[in-house]
Amino acid sequence: MRREVARDFHAHLQLLESEGLLIRVGHPVNKDTELHPLVRWQFAGGIAEAERRAFLFTNVTDSKGRHYDMPVVVGALAANPQIYALGMGVPVEEIGAAWSRAIARPIPPEHANNPTCQQVVHRGDELVSQGCGLSALPVPVSTPGFDAAPYLTATLCVTKDPESGVQNMGTYRAALKANDRLAVRMVARPGGAGGYVHWQKYRARNQPMPIAIVVGCAPAVCFTGPQKLAIDMDELGVAGALMGEPVRITRAVTQDLDVPADSEIVIEGVIEPDLLEPEAPFGESNGYVALEAFNMPMRVTAITRKRDAVFTSIISQVTPSESSVIKKVAYEPMFLANLRDDLEIRGIRRVVMHERLTNLRPVIFLQFAVGTPQSEVWRGLHGAANFQSGCGKIVIAVSEDMDPQNLDGVLWSLAYRANPEDDVHIGPHGGGLQGSQYRKSQSNSCMLIDATQKNPMPPLALPARQYMERARALWIELGLPALNAAQPWHGYQMGQWNDRWELFARRTAEGNWALNGAETGAQTRKGLTPETPMTQTGEHGAKG
Ligand SMILES: Cc1cc2nc3c(=O)[nH]c(=O)nc-3n(C[C@H](O)[C@H](O)[C@H](O)COP(=O)(O)O)c2cc1C
Repeated sequence: MRREVARDFHAHLQLLESEGLLIRVGHPVNKDTELHPLVRWQFAGGIAEAERRAFLFTNVTDSKGRHYDMPVVVGALAANPQIYALGMGVPVEEIGAAWSRAIARPIPPEHANNPTCQQVVHRGDELVSQGCGLSALPVPVSTPGFDAAPYLTATLCVTKDPESGVQNMGTYRAALKANDRLAVRMVARPGGAGGYVHWQKYRARNQPMPIAIVVGCAPAVCFTGPQKLAIDMDELGVAGALMGEPVRITRAVTQDLDVPADSEIVIEGVIEPDLLEPEAPFGESNGYVALEAFNMPMRVTAITRKRDAVFTSIISQVTPSESSVIKKVAYEPMFLANLRDDLEIRGIRRVVMHERLTNLRPVIFLQFAVGTPQSEVWRGLHGAANFQSGCGKIVIAVSEDMDPQNLDGVLWSLAYRANPEDDVHIGPHGGGLQGSQYRKSQSNSCMLIDATQKNPMPPLALPARQYMERARALWIELGLPALNAAQPWHGYQMGQWNDRWELFARRTAEGNWALNGAETGAQTRKGLTPETPMTQTGEHGAKG
């Protein structure tokens, strides 16, 4: 079911506010020391995911005592899946299908006559001489105490393939270096940033690479930045399909690039083909502070913006964070679609990427229907470990009765449904994982584990469903504290059960346990070792 979808970032903020998903902060807040730490508390302070909000700061200051007219918003794109879903115009459960449809049938963008993103234009010397450059923007410091600069985080970095002319938009961090200079970091390992692939082509031609960094626009357009699309797929077309109409675009004022016409802010410039500059430290989503490395300086040629532009920032670093939510809701359905539709793996039900601290990519859980052939489980495990470079260091398959979101259930499956010798496979990993730089060896192997139920097992040892449901009604009747049931909350059969035991259980629940005693009393045996199962003596259909 399609709902209203925001055509630009202002409309999105209005929608958030009308849904009660936005908190306005009018109190003066220092962008260099207070702003991100304040929002961090909603991820680090034990607040439930559904209770997270976008924070709109309307009284932004900095450590030099400056005041900024431009508001800053954090969490407006993906503080939680509900906020993301609002931006997509679909319910949370339809996010995956919306991505699949949009990728299959992109809608090309259309040039607009009145680009609101160019209502204010500063270019050339103005950027330095009249203080209209980067320092005029209220760019927050993400990890005060560690970061070496304020960083643009909610970016869409637009570059163009010099051979095909196809544009790419990726979300890459960019550090403020001077009023007219940024340092952009594009992942250079294979399968890394699309912008990096473009840069390699410009370097081979010894030509500067035009780049435009969009900060803030229609949320559906923003969401294509972190999404991993095929390298030759123009994100603007996919964004159009997500919105159900062409994205309005305009030509950048100083670069030969198309940008969303209703963006909040666009920073235009060039990246030289052979010049690199130290960038970072910066707190990363893998949970470490990225240390200084040579990355790409960008010489700014223009900054254009709406008259009433709002500055968007994504909160990242240790997960969960806005950065992990924005990827989780987009990556999981893509993995599932790949396993289910492309690899045609039978029995696959869900893909869950582990979020807390690990940041999604390294640890992936697959959920399979009970009875799925082991060969399909293993195809799934290998598929998930190889679908995207950098994802799937540890992939664990569990059965449908265990919720992969529940780590205890995963560990229970590992404890009682997997035998390491038979069910664990260590394989070489094609791509480097984020984080491999912290070890001597830069490569990564992968560990695949089949922790599914492979044969009939006894029932789960909790009262059967009807007893738990009756007891819940009683619980409520007694006015006891509100329940928040976690799976599993009732017992169920898993194949190893028979009529005799069913009868015993029914009699016992009816108070007739003595009938069972009379029956077993007539079945005593001599000469057996204690704990010899009935199934081994073959009596009374006790096959199990
Ligand atoms: C907040 C945030 C920051 C990110 N920072 C970077 C970055 O600095 N460099 C990078 O290459 N990828 C970064 N990513 C991941 C990319 O956005 C992601 O891999 C995306 O698929 C890149 O698009 P591309 O395949 O078109 O390059 C970041 C993602 C998020 C959500």
